[in-house]
Amino acid sequence: MEWIYYDSKTGNVERFMQKVADLTGWAVRKIQPGMKVGHDGHLVTFTTRFGEIPETTKNFLQYASSYLHSVSSSGNRNWGRNFALAGDKIASEYGLPLALKFELSGTMEDVKEFIDIITAKKYYGNERGSKELDFAQ
Ligand SMILES: Cc1cc2nc3c(=O)[nH]c(=O)nc-3n(C[C@H](O)[C@H](O)[C@H](O)COP(=O)(O)O)c2cc1C
Repeated sequence: MEWIYYDSKTGNVERFMQKVADLTGWAVRKIQPGMKVGHDGHLVTFTTRFGEIPETTKNFLQYASSYLHSVSSSGNRNWGRNFALAGDKIASEYGLPLALKFELSGTMEDVKEFIDIITAKKYYGNERGSKELDFAQ
């Protein structure tokens, strides 16, 4: 059983998480102010205001980041270089592996990829990790 904590303003991440929950039965919890975190889990959020992390997600990270094993982010490719950038920013600011960036509420393929990445802990070998290895060569 995996625990997923998610943030959603206009419902896209919520719809993505509903599809994940339907397929897996994982414990999927929407971030609420002051919410208690009793289990290690994963964060899924969205991107706002030119590549920024939502305030609600920042507040959650302040006290819950030590429970998190990965971060994923929704965005919209119309935002170009800022696409789903909240995920990259959280990854670098909190030292978390980036699991997946997806558009809006995600396709079924995105949903299955997310489940596979989380189940097989593939977030440790993701694109960000490979890039770091490339720089080291
Ligand atoms: C004001 C505003 C700013 C946004 N800025 C970005 C952005 O910089 N990069 C990006 O990829 N998506 C951006 N988006 C798109 C959202 O991240 C995307 O729609 C996401 O799926 C919203 O998730 P939610 O419906 O769960 O709140 C923005 C959306 C809004 C309304």
